[in-house]
Amino acid sequence: MSRTRLAIIGGTGLTRLKDLEIIRREVMHTPYGEPSGPLTFGTLNGTEIVFLPRHGAQHTIPPHQVNYRANIWALNNAGMDTVVAIAAVGGITPSMAPGVLAIPDQIIDYTWSRANTYFDGGELDSVTHIDMTWPYSQRVRERLIHSAKELQIEAVGSGTYGATQGPRLETAAEIRRMERDGCDLVGMTGMPEAALARELELDYACCAVVANWAAGKSGDEITMDDIAANLATGMDRVKQLLTHVIGRLS
Ligand code: HPA
Repeated sequence: MSRTRLAIIGGTGLTRLKDLEIIRREVMHTPYGEPSGPLTFGTLNGTEIVFLPRHGAQHTIPPHQVNYRANIWALNNAGMDTVVAIAAVGGITPSMAPGVLAIPDQIIDYTWSRANTYFDGGELDSVTHIDMTWPYSQRVRERLIHSAKELQIEAVGSGTYGATQGPRLETAAEIRRMERDGCDLVGMTGMPEAALARELELDYACCAVVANWAAGKSGDEITMDDIAANLATGMDRVKQLLTHVIGRLS
């Protein structure tokens, strides 16, 4: 069996992986423009991976301006075949409390006006309508869920991720509508990232970290301070999970 080549896309709260032993950084140029930054090649727990912070190393690229096509193209071009995408989200349904990790199994896309396909007359010639019935890789999801169990990290093993346009947070009514639609989580970066990974046939799954109750789900306003505090604990667990899962994915 050939070796898995794993990439980790870091989200808000995870712009660097402290334990990554860096081998080299590579600036990539793609037919779709520049990725969010150079790809960092390194070893984590003895396994070689590539790390790319979605919002840039200094967290300066907002969700609607991330060049998702360049990011996924660059990872594919670097020979990666598996992607674990870390994403900060708001929790909508009761099990998705702040601090919890979730491995979603479905997506509803509410984003608009993002470059969301490679099949637009560019590099990929024949138009293909990719299957998105199950938008995430079952293999990668299972490994993440299994690792969380072994580490006794609280992780919800399914859920629907609603991808919103941002960068503003949602209104309470928007969240009520999303809940009626069946969303458990809300985030701003899940799409088109997942669809682009599928177009390039990468095995892609998301590990979401709940940073806050979504709008209207607690009595309070959502503050960036609360988000940052919950993310700090959540991301510590993500780092443990990544360190553990890496050996099992390769
Ligand atoms: N909504 C959308 N994206 C988010 C949220 C939220 O409440 N929290 C973290 N990312």
